[in-house]
Amino acid sequence: MILDGRQDSSIAQAARVLAAGGLVAFPTETVYGLGADAGSDAAVAGIFAAKGRPSDHPLIVHVPDAAAASRFAASIPPVAQRLMDAFWPGPLTLILPRRPETGRAAAGGQDTIGLRCPAHPVAHALLLAAAGATPPVFGVAGPSANRFGRVSPTTAAHVAGEFGPELLVLDGGPTSVGIESAIVDCSRAVPVLLRPGTLTRAQIEAACGERVWLPEERAEAGPRASGTLASHYAPHARVRLMDARALQTALDVLGADAVAIAVYARSPLRTRTPHYRRMPDDAAETARQLFAVLREFDAAGVKLIWVETPPDAPEWDGVRDRLGRASAV
Ligand code: TXA
Ligand code: MG
Repeated sequence: MILDGRQDSSIAQAARVLAAGGLVAFPTETVYGLGADAGSDAAVAGIFAAKGRPSDHPLIVHVPDAAAASRFAASIPPVAQRLMDAFWPGPLTLILPRRPETGRAAAGGQDTIGLRCPAHPVAHALLLAAAGATPPVFGVAGPSANRFGRVSPTTAAHVAGEFGPELLVLDGGPTSVGIESAIVDCSRAVPVLLRPGTLTRAQIEAACGERVWLPEERAEAGPRASGTLASHYAPHARVRLMDARALQTALDVLGADAVAIAVYARSPLRTRTPHYRRMPDDAAETARQLFAVLREFDAAGVKLIWVETPPDAPEWDGVRDRLGRASAV
């Protein structure tokens, strides 16, 4: 069931479902999340079951403000505090040491917890209402509201299409960021960027006031993150990345047979396929539409999606990462 997330009555109903241990899908500025009370391991088990996600893969816990982070985090290291000050509410998740008494299932059993304060007004209203519900829900565990390994949803219709009419989905319109939050692990000796998002490494480093490492630069890279599995965010069709010239050559070779192939490219190409979408020149705009475009191609029933490799500039890191994973087999 899709409810208008701008209505107070929808928020109140969703908060009641969360307080009762149920599941609610909700919009954030990045992608839609599948939420449950992070303080209840039984409620969180419902997320793993619905998604078909292995229960040792940790989830992100959404909180209404930075103060609420301390309900789940055992401590807030200075570097994490600086990142919260700079980017919360916003598309940044912090991995922090977990309070041992709470969030065990949400953390997938790890002694750390992923926390994020989303900037979307519907998410914010839901988190506030949930905190005021009986019993109170101080954090909402919420992975992306898609089945395990699939493309994250950026509209309420994407979520409803994947989980059916029983699930309560708060509609907050299409998401504005479009790819998942950047994740910085602040639980170790140095900050590590576990997953790129739309904030660039340079922006994150500027706020930290120190170097932020990539997992491959550190031996003690940290626990497995499902969003960091090589093959993830995959549509049903096979995705292949090519530069513009290789793409044009491949299309020329196929000729009329190219009609069965979807193409997503920045460069103007000659092709007969009706499934041809131009990739915007702007990285943020591309991130916003990327998952919807992949879902559109899937819905059209194509077996192959050929994508022009995005530029090698830092603002494209998030898009390049998601496309790389979508094309991994
Ligand atoms: O933008 C987002 O982050 C969206 C919206 C809904 O907030 N959420 C999202 O959640 O992408 P999910 O579960 O699909 O991805 C969460 C990522 C996973 O790769 C997970 O392994 C990692 O965060 N993660 C969560 N807690 C962690 C922890 N304690 N240690 C390491 N990685 C963690
Ligand atoms: Mg996900």
